[in-house]
Amino acid sequence: MTKKILNQNDIINTEIINSYDFDYIFSNNPINRVKKEPLIVNKTEELKKLEEKIQNIEDCKLKKNATKIVFAEGNIDSPIMIVGEGPGQKEDELGKPFVGDSGMLLNKMLTAININRKNVYVTNVVNFRPPNDRKPDSNEIKKYSNFLKNHISIIDPKILVIMGSTAMEALFGTKIKISKERGDWKELIINNKTYLAMITFHPAYLLRQADQKKYSWVDLKKIKKKVDELKINFR
Ligand code: URA
Repeated sequence: MTKKILNQNDIINTEIINSYDFDYIFSNNPINRVKKEPLIVNKTEELKKLEEKIQNIEDCKLKKNATKIVFAEGNIDSPIMIVGEGPGQKEDELGKPFVGDSGMLLNKMLTAININRKNVYVTNVVNFRPPNDRKPDSNEIKKYSNFLKNHISIIDPKILVIMGSTAMEALFGTKIKISKERGDWKELIINNKTYLAMITFHPAYLLRQADQKKYSWVDLKKIKKKVDELKINFR
């Protein structure tokens, strides 16, 4: 009789098996390894808590300049979440994202791919209007990106649309350029979950650079294709 030599893995596996209930291991019932119990999150509550946290942010020039917080708008159960840069004058006045000229263009862009604005969820990197509508600086982007990541985890969208370089920096860092990265599907990991993300030009940029709309259209068509592939239904 030859003696079987156990290697380290065999020893560990034997120990694990011995520590189990054999009836369970060799049960005839199939084990469902795929199904995961959905995480029960009360989105409304979580969003309220997040908004409060942002409202209570300390030592922030953006907050000091702004009239009110612009948190988000739209369907909290939407499979599509859109992230812009930050509020402008109109948004600051109304407390809602993308309600000025950029917002009008965003609505048109969505309509062009058969998506109604009210069926998506829209937010920004920074939730207070920057002084003189300047771009948020890197420290501000970093600070607010933690809130944004939390926000994405709560909404848990199937598709993230990242509009402009500020949103790109908040989620992918400073080392990449929007002109190179836009239009490709990316995987973005937040809190151990992978999100499908598309970086594309910001509507405000398209209002200034109309010749870039052709690239935006390419990206929008890819988003539409993905919506169809994933059989996304907007409720
Ligand atoms: N630009 C943005 O990025 N967000 C808005 O809400 C409005 C304009």
